[in-house]
Amino acid sequence: MKNLYLQSISLMKVVTHSEDLDSIQTMLHSNTLALVPTMGALHDGHLQLAQTAKELGYYVLVSIFVNPRQFNNPSDLDKYPRTIDADKKKLEAAGVDAVFIPQLEDVYSGEISDITLDLGELDTVLEGHFRPGHFDGVVQVLYRFFQKVKPQAVFFGEKDLQQCMVVKKLLNQYFANIQYFQVPTVRESSGLAMSSRNQRLTDFGKQQASEIYKVLLMLKQQCQLGVFQPDTMINLLKQFTIETEYLAWVSLPDMVPVNANNYKEHNQQALVFAGYLEGVRLIDNLVFEVVNS
Ligand code: PAJ
Repeated sequence: MKNLYLQSISLMKVVTHSEDLDSIQTMLHSNTLALVPTMGALHDGHLQLAQTAKELGYYVLVSIFVNPRQFNNPSDLDKYPRTIDADKKKLEAAGVDAVFIPQLEDVYSGEISDITLDLGELDTVLEGHFRPGHFDGVVQVLYRFFQKVKPQAVFFGEKDLQQCMVVKKLLNQYFANIQYFQVPTVRESSGLAMSSRNQRLTDFGKQQASEIYKVLLMLKQQCQLGVFQPDTMINLLKQFTIETEYLAWVSLPDMVPVNANNYKEHNQQALVFAGYLEGVRLIDNLVFEVVNS
């Protein structure tokens, strides 16, 4: 039994240079390659994306690349956890078919140059506002990965909701043939959304951070009745030493704020949060539909 397990985990292909991606594309005669882009420090949220792709019958390639261009804060980039050996083991155990771990030069010094993509408001509201240049960095790296890997499907987590909306725009404009999948946020039993950044929180901090989800659930009930009073909730979070950067009620896919007067004009809405706890920036959201009465 043990040998069988070892045999099966050794089947994961490790690709460290984009030129070697060709062998995967040649090997796959059918159109079944799924790409799951990540920056590593993998947790069950990341693995859920790979697992969903696997269950849908795809050959699953996970990329691990900490993309400097999407970090508007250099110290955030320095502090980003890098756990490549542990990551590989988790992917093998999850039955992932291949992992792509390119170097910086491989990603950025090839023939592919930057693209322009009109992100509309997405580039200026919420994450776009507080992390200038972030989404451009995400777009440029994903454009390169999509070009190089040539997947038939890509998988993204709802945890990064605004990124999901950006990816949809990128696919619409440049990769109409790639199928897009959005996977719901995976949470700890406390409700805390899993994130690589949670590693930087103390156990006590993790406990405090679970209040964010509770607040989102309470606000959702109010929003569905057309009431939005974020200040009470921001004060509540303060009692748990959480400093809110934004807490907004927005419509999808544009992520522009809605209010009691216009919320019924939009079917899909979300509550989105960003804030700091123990010096760690945390984001979370809740997507919901409003039933028009
Ligand atoms: P990263 O933060 O590593 O996340 C990789 C993918 O995992 C993203 O699609 C993200 O939304 C998803 N994910 C993270 N936490 C999750 C959770 N708790 N539940 C479900 N999905 C979760 O997002 C990035 O990397 C980068 O911006 C990237 C797209 C790789 C471009 O560099």
